[in-house]
Amino acid sequence: MLKTPIILDCDPGLDDAIAIFIALASSEFDVKGLVTVAGNQTLDKVTRNALQLVEVIGSDVPVVKGAALPLVREQVTAGYVHGESGLKTLVLPEPKRASQNNAIQFIYDTAVKLKGELVIVAVGPLTNIAHAILIHPDLKEHVKKIVIMGGGHHNGNITPAAEFNIFADPEAAKVVFESGIDLVMVGLDVTMADGLSKDEVLSLFTKHNDKTKIIEHILLDMVNSEGPGYKPWAYIHDAMALMVLLYDDLLSGRMCHVDIETKGDRTYGKTVVDYYDTHKLPKNAFVTFEVNRERFHQAIQERLRVYEQ
Ligand code: BDR
Ligand code: CA
Repeated sequence: MLKTPIILDCDPGLDDAIAIFIALASSEFDVKGLVTVAGNQTLDKVTRNALQLVEVIGSDVPVVKGAALPLVREQVTAGYVHGESGLKTLVLPEPKRASQNNAIQFIYDTAVKLKGELVIVAVGPLTNIAHAILIHPDLKEHVKKIVIMGGGHHNGNITPAAEFNIFADPEAAKVVFESGIDLVMVGLDVTMADGLSKDEVLSLFTKHNDKTKIIEHILLDMVNSEGPGYKPWAYIHDAMALMVLLYDDLLSGRMCHVDIETKGDRTYGKTVVDYYDTHKLPKNAFVTFEVNRERFHQAIQERLRVYEQ
């Protein structure tokens, strides 16, 4: 089987952690590296979390430190969801290895080396990728596609208009959405349309070990998270974005023109999706609007139960 080479650009983060577990256990992927970006917590914290997670998983995938601050705006973090550490109440052993530096060069070099095959799964603010595009304008010729967890057609979560990853660095998102690279947008329209209930989390595993206990702990922390419009579910936003590459029938949508609002007082960071093609502008992203719920629940079980072995 030809594996899809991916870089996971993340800010772990509870749902990022679930995406990391799934990415590293999926034989369809050749994970070239995790690059980190400040988002859910500061860069040092999310990088430490990424290192701790790969070590408990037992992977030697490179962890590469990225941007500590957004391009222009002042920093916002999401401790109110992901806790002081970024992994809420989960306590993991101190990491033994260190991260590499320079995510921008890592992204560019990996893309060039893979001659157009690299897929980037971006589940944090888009700062690293924007820097890479601005410094290496030819990056777009080398990247196959970017799957973005971010935005939403109907609603935001951190403001009524904006979703957290885009709001945390709207200027970076603008660079990425205007880059000409093939984009898939997995926004709140789909990531909040379904989730895992407490009962579902508690019945996910039939056998327990250190890894399944960690996954269960994270998912229960997520069930207990509160936010606008939240049901008592674990919303695994980032893992849903990753899984679009594993299941063709998981999400449906269509090509749209998407603008990133960077000026509006109330709308800063909104993904403006031209659903009816009003402006007749080039369609720059495949925007997902619906989730196949049966597939979603089956996929989560299939991918996480691997850790029972
Ligand atoms: C996104 O924001 C972060 O808090 C999550 O990790 C996810 O990437 C959801 O809005
Ligand atoms: Ca994230």
